[in-house]
Amino acid sequence: MKASGEDGKAPAGGPWEECFEAAVQLALRAGQIIRKALSEEKRVSTKTSAADLVTETDHVVEALILQELQTRFPSHRFIAEEAAAAGAKCVLTPSPTWIVDPIDGTCNFVHRFPTVAVSIGFAVNQETLQSSSMLCVPGTRGLGGCSPGIRPFWGLGDLSKALVLTEIGPRRDPATLKLFLSNMERLLHAGAHGVRVIGSSTLALCHLAAGTADAYYQFGLHCWDLAAATVIIREAGGIVMDTSGGPLDLMSCRVVAAGTREMAVLIAQALQTINYGRDDERPLAFMGSQTKKVLFTPLMHPARPFRVSNHDRSSRRGVMASSLQELLSKTLDALVVASQLVTLVLEEDGTVVDTEEFFQTLGDNTHLMVLEQGQKWTPAGSHTPARWPPQRRGIAKVTFDLYKLSPKDVIGCLNVKATMYEMYSVSYDIHCTGFKAMLRSLLRFLSHAAQVTGQCLVHMGTYMLRVLAETEEQAVPGSRPRRGIKSG
Ligand code: IPD
Repeated sequence: MKASGEDGKAPAGGPWEECFEAAVQLALRAGQIIRKALSEEKRVSTKTSAADLVTETDHVVEALILQELQTRFPSHRFIAEEAAAAGAKCVLTPSPTWIVDPIDGTCNFVHRFPTVAVSIGFAVNQETLQSSSMLCVPGTRGLGGCSPGIRPFWGLGDLSKALVLTEIGPRRDPATLKLFLSNMERLLHAGAHGVRVIGSSTLALCHLAAGTADAYYQFGLHCWDLAAATVIIREAGGIVMDTSGGPLDLMSCRVVAAGTREMAVLIAQALQTINYGRDDERPLAFMGSQTKKVLFTPLMHPARPFRVSNHDRSSRRGVMASSLQELLSKTLDALVVASQLVTLVLEEDGTVVDTEEFFQTLGDNTHLMVLEQGQKWTPAGSHTPARWPPQRRGIAKVTFDLYKLSPKDVIGCLNVKATMYEMYSVSYDIHCTGFKAMLRSLLRFLSHAAQVTGQCLVHMGTYMLRVLAETEEQAVPGSRPRRGIKSG
């Protein structure tokens, strides 16, 4: 825990003394809760990515800190990590503002890696106050407490002998990882003794303040990771600046810190920027999808199979994923998509899959499509089938339709319909409503059938005679065709 004045000495009184005392007590209480929960089973949820975690302890500790501070300082403003994840705005005004990270290093906390901190920063006129920034570091006692007035030894600003700290940040898409690794590579090429990732931005800054590392840089951290720890660095005589080399902007999601200005500038010059946007310009968002806090749902959903394609469906892959972020990351890899700004949609109707909750409702083997900037979803069925099914042409069809004219009918009526070549049809209704009617109908039908049969026989006979006459005429050339039947 750190609490000291601008000159390195603990403040005796002063306008913010009461705030300072309240924060110290809260940080100690929060530390006890975290220390106890560290080894216990946790309920974990994801936020902006599969690597951006939150537990119920983060919520409990944040609620404790905010409730106490709000009760004691009702006119003050608040920015807190989990409230921001739930959509609260992060606006730093000149008003007295508390900037709270209940557990910095939540991923460590989930894995029981004992490098976590409570960070309670306090800013007035948009500057974090040196006399009112507190840090509680369970498990690494004393790290944030470099004695006032004693300056750590940071070498001579020589990058080639430096031990540099950094943090990965929440994104895991290939483009961001490439930049992250290339920044590490640049520092190692420049001769840095080592680059370390310890899992807590706050504690990395505290290591620097304690003189156990020479520099720190990161893209993708937040104001609550920085607010308290930057004060500790400055109190220790170190430098905190923007990665552009300009003054630190708490809301810019990036930082370089070092023991000396020369070292900080050397590091800043070596880095390629990873753009994470600003804390004060969004509800936390990633790849077009709005961050939603998912409270108390189990983190480790089993990995499930999905089918993913590019926008014109020319490339398809199968991927296994347990979260939306994992799916996005694996999809970008599988389809070799370099862009960071992509949208995932359902292939069948273009519905955007942009929240973890929605993703978890999708069935196994759901087909998804990845759209890069400027690309649009199009329906799948616009192609012509290569072979149409063979068309059937009817020659003759006979249908029977049995129906009743009234409920009292014994059998009802039978309709017989014959259709030839789908064009000509003959229909006949047999009324069988009573015994007599049935008999009448039967007789009528038989006489009808006899007439039709007779007509058919006459037509057939005539046709056969014509064929015979033509055959005989071809056999006796010159003779006149004979018509009719020779009898006797
Ligand atoms: C995170 C940790 C992590 C860093 C992230 C931070 P949280 O804080 O400090 O090491 O890479 O940028 O946001 O989420 O554990 O409070």
